[in-house]
Formats: sequence, structure tokens, C-alpha cells
Amino acid sequence: MKPEIAIIGAGYVGVPLAQVFADAGRRVVLVDVVQDRVDQLNRGESYIEDVPSAVLGKLVEGGLISATSDYDILRETDSILIALPTPLSRQREPDLSIVLNAVREIAPRLRKGHLVVLESTTYPGTTREEILPILETSGLIVGADFSLAFSPERVDPGRTDWTTKNVPKVAGGITPACTERAAELYGSAIDTIHRVSSPEAAELTKLLENIFRSVNIALVNELAILCDRMDIDIWEVVGAAATKPFGFMSFSPGPGLGGHCIPIDPFYLTWKAREFGFYTEFIELAGKVNEEMPYFCRSLVSQALNHAKERSLKGSKLLVLGVAYKPGIGDMRESPALKLISLLNNAGAEVSYHDPHVPKFSDHGLEMTCVPYEPAAYDCVVIVTDHHEIDYDQLVDDAQLVVDLRNATGAKGTASEKVFKL
Ligand SMILES: NC(=O)c1ccc[n+]([C@@H]2O[C@H](COP(=O)([O-])OP(=O)(O)OC[C@H]3O[C@@H](n4cnc5c(N)ncnc54)[C@H](O)[C@@H]3O)[C@@H](O)[C@H]2O)c1
Repeated sequence: MKPEIAIIGAGYVGVPLAQVFADAGRRVVLVDVVQDRVDQLNRGESYIEDVPSAVLGKLVEGGLISATSDYDILRETDSILIALPTPLSRQREPDLSIVLNAVREIAPRLRKGHLVVLESTTYPGTTREEILPILETSGLIVGADFSLAFSPERVDPGRTDWTTKNVPKVAGGITPACTERAAELYGSAIDTIHRVSSPEAAELTKLLENIFRSVNIALVNELAILCDRMDIDIWEVVGAAATKPFGFMSFSPGPGLGGHCIPIDPFYLTWKAREFGFYTEFIELAGKVNEEMPYFCRSLVSQALNHAKERSLKGSKLLVLGVAYKPGIGDMRESPALKLISLLNNAGAEVSYHDPHVPKFSDHGLEMTCVPYEPAAYDCVVIVTDHHEIDYDQLVDDAQLVVDLRNATGAKGTASEKVFKL
């Protein structure tokens, strides 16, 4: 039976989205350029931690999910959802080339009745100014012949309470009828749909959410640096403020931003704002503070070694515990661990890492393999990502020295003389 929905980009966004539609009985085809990924998916093997192979396998067997690298499949589907990467260029400007190349593949295959939705995070105006003109090279007219909308993906990989299915889906179409088509499609599988008046409103909604996080993380990071000077425990302060039932939302300090979204997306808006002679100062300031954090964390490790062991970074054996950008997943994209490891290496330390989710990685000029978990064998263990698989109470007992950048060691760490916290 032919698939109803095509999802272009079988990654962190595309695969969970396919599962949600398939769970609702819709037939989905994932379109991806990487043949290995296509073959794995068709064998029912998942490489996305949020969608276990056992679940994917059943949906593939039942004919609800398939995968292909052939864009011609789009001719057979009713809807085309785009979930492709939107990175920054080396000059930190939006790089829409992956999305636009895919849209150039869609245009010749577009037919009457098609719904196209962009899910990738981007600046306001992308759907109307960049996607629409390419689709209209087909000779078809938006609103009359086909529908076009933007609906941001809000998935938080590794999270189980809020998933693609129960996080409300925001959708804004080029025309009201486009919005309705998108709402109808998502409404068949996702619990709540929130309609907005335009793709621009939907595009900016996603950016506001990510900028909100970036700015608030920067605020608490700045306070963490001040607290270090004032000898106040930032974790205690954040925990106490979080007892206020209204008007405060808790954010944690850390070694820096990570992931595909928060370090990158805000700069999509910064770039677009320049067209309007506007400077997004909060975004720039937050970026500056957050980018400084790996440097501050390096100095914490250096101080800890100095005070506790009368050692310098140079020649010390360090174990970085957790390198993924957040707990529970193996995603290394933009992980602050990469910067911190490079800085520690540059200072002459001998750095190894352990991460239950990352067997090896090659990024930022680093090529590393996970070592066995033997905390006692190192001069200092640096907790960068607080994966739940580690027993942190036991770590405090076993390690010679700990620098805890996530408050993973809790009260026991606070009470211990060999634990230095951010
Ligand atoms: N990962 C997240 O947590 C998250 C959350 C919300 C929004 N987003 C946004 O969603 C978008 C997609 O992100 P992701 O994390 O799923 O990316 P990803 O890198 O995990 O997946 C993208 C997939 O697209 C494939 N691909 C690349 N070029 C292609 C092409 N021309 N045709 C077909 N497939 C192609 C890649 O092989 C890969 O499988 C981005 O804009 C991102 O900002 C991501």
C-alpha cells in the first residue's frame, strides 16, 4: 500500500515523528540521502535512542513505516514534511542549503493536493521567501493547488514525559486553508494543535523558545561565576529560588551550551534582524557568556588540582565523565565537552573520557574512544554530563578528586572536601 506521509530527513526529529504517525495508523515513508540509514530503518533497526528497535521493527513489519533514498516516492504521498538540518555556516550565518536542495527535489514532483510542511528550525520568512518560490517553479499555486505551512518540531531527545505526541504542535500556513490542512494532518496523530496566523509567527515561536533557554542559561552561568568569587553555592541558590511557586523558572548552570538547537538557532534570528537594522543584543550577550563557560570550567579544574593535590593541569591524568551534550542520550553535536577536552589537552593534561552512551567520537579535531569506568585511576574526575547510569555517591568515595560541573554529586559532594563544584 502506498505511503500517505513522506518525512524528509530520518534523524532525531524525523524518526520519532514517523513513529507518532505510524502509531496512529498512518503510513509513513522516511526519505534520507544516507543509504545506510535507509537500509537500517527498513530492517527495523533504530539508531535514534527515543525510538527503540523493538517498536520500530513492529511498525516496519506492519507496513506503517518504510524508508527510501528515492525522492520519486513523494509523487505517491499526500503530505511532505521536511525535517532536515539547519546549521550555521563557518561565518555563523544561516545555512539553508540542505533544506533548499531538498525543496528543489520536491518541486518537480509536486502535484495538486500536496501539503508541504517545513519543520526545521529557521528564521521568520524562510517558508514564504525561500521555500515558496522554489515550489511555485512547478507552475502550481499555493492555496489553490497545494498547501504550504511551517510547524516547528519541539522534541527534546531523551525525554519521556513530553514527547512528539503530547507536546502541542504549533502550525502556521501561507493561507488559512494551508493552516487547516496542516492542523488536520498533525491532529490525526498529535494530541493538541495550536494554530497561528502565518508561517512567520510559527517560525519565530520556535526561536523564542530556544532564545528564552539560551538567555536564562546565560544568566545563571554568569551568576555561577560571580558565586565562585563570593563563595556562595549557586546550586543552593537556584534550588531555593525554585521553591517560589510563581514568577521563577529554574535553569541550571553548566559547562556551556550543547546540541543542535540552543547554541545555533538564536543566531538565525540575529542574522535576519540585521535586514531590519536591528541588533538582537540579548542573543549576542547570552552567546558570549555561554561560550565563556568551558574556559571558566578549565580554570575550576586547574584550581581543584592546585588546591587538593598541589598539581598543575600539565601532566595530570583526567577522566571526563559524560561527553554527550545532555544526560540519557549519545548526541555529541556542539557538546561543551568537546571544547573543554580541547582546552584541557592544550594545557597539557592527559584526558580520557567515559560515557555509557558514546563508545567513541571524532569531532573538533578530537578522536577518542570511551575508557572503562575506573575513577580511582585518575588525578581528577570531571563530571561534564550527569548520565543517570553512574552512581555518584560511590564516585565521591572512589575518586581521588572530583570537579562536578552539574551538581551530580548533590549533598554528598557539597560535604566532601575532594569535590569542587561549579
Ligand atoms: N534534534 C533536536 O532535538 C531538535 C529539536 C527540535 C528541532 N530540531 C530541528 O529539526 C531539524 C532537523 O534536526 P535533526 O536533529 O532531526 O537532524 P539530524 O541530523 O538528526 O537528521 C537529519 C537527517 O537528514 C538527512 N539528510 C541530510 N540531507 C538530506 C537530503 N538532502 N535529503 C534527505 N535527507 C537528508 C541526514 O542523513 C539525517 O538523517 C533542524 O532544523 C533542527 O534544528 C531538532
